[in-house]
Amino acid sequence: MTRFSYLLFLFSSAAMVHAQHGSIADAPFSTPRDVAAGRQSFRSQCAACHGLDASGGTVAPSLVSGTFKHGGSDEALFTVITKGVPGTAMTGFALDGREVWQLIAFLRSMNVARSAAKAPGDAGKGAQVYQTNGCARCHTNGSGSGGFSGPDLSEIGSRRTLAQIEQAIVDPNAYVDPAYWSVKAEMNSGQTVNGIRMNEDMDSIQIREPGGRLRTLMKADLARFEIVRTSPMPSFRGKISGADLQNLVAYLASLGGSTAEAENK
Ligand code: HEC
Ligand code: HEC
Repeated sequence: MTRFSYLLFLFSSAAMVHAQHGSIADAPFSTPRDVAAGRQSFRSQCAACHGLDASGGTVAPSLVSGTFKHGGSDEALFTVITKGVPGTAMTGFALDGREVWQLIAFLRSMNVARSAAKAPGDAGKGAQVYQTNGCARCHTNGSGSGGFSGPDLSEIGSRRTLAQIEQAIVDPNAYVDPAYWSVKAEMNSGQTVNGIRMNEDMDSIQIREPGGRLRTLMKADLARFEIVRTSPMPSFRGKISGADLQNLVAYLASLGGSTAEAENK
């Protein structure tokens, strides 16, 4: 494979991984700021009928139950919001695409927060499971301590569904954010280096070494290098199971989710 086609291959496989994942995190405009903007425009344009927290009013249905009469896909929601439901009080809104996606992100965040409220486990006991399994070695949880080699989990409950959280714990390789792909390289001198892949261009590749140091490797100096797409996170399948797993998922789902609920009061 030429270097150019190799890069192309990298690009297309990254896109595929993303397409398969299909979570709210992949919809356009779904960052916490977009959710906040969506909440804002919901309050000014939709709340009069659907209620301040979207849980339904006298004239319009709840939008937080997770099921939609006119379809729950991004496309279906987009169509209802922009075209309306003919013959009902739900008229189409002439909004730009960004604003519509922000509204959808807000509605999705409400669904995720509601599913946190419905988590079957005991979040208090889950915090204990989090402690004893050393999750804080790599993650922060909003308590002000913890490691940074994995993503910040302090708002995980407002970004991921229960099923996604559980999968991340028992099968970390099912989806690995390309931001956590790593590089294994051998220098022309024979020395081996590895680290998280930060950036890459035609001539160089930048990595963060396990100690945290940033390092730029010139490709000309490398005898070979390999992109490793498996997760740096160990799988906890079989190590955390049953009630412990349910409690841990409930604990993570409560992070960020409860603040989202409180803000909507
Ligand atoms: C004047 C009242 C009114 C306003 C304002 C309004 N809606 Fe609606 N909306 C309705 C009614 C009534 C329905 C139910 C239509 C039907 O019978 O299917 C509805 C349905 C919907 C649905 C489909 C629900 C489903 O189960 O499929 C969505 C999504 C929706 N509205 C989003 C919004 C958003 C987002 C806004 C603000 C941009 C908004 N609505 C503003 C009255 C309103
Ligand atoms: C050796 C470091 C390490 C340990 C220990 C670790 N993780 Fe992770 N975790 C990661 C990394 C790196 C990622 C991001 C890559 C991925 O998606 O697998 C991640 C991803 C996650 C995600 C998905 C985050 C998201 O934004 O979707 C969750 C949830 C999670 N970890 C929970 C846990 C829990 C719970 C524990 C303890 C039982 C734990 N992790 C232990 C490194 C670690």
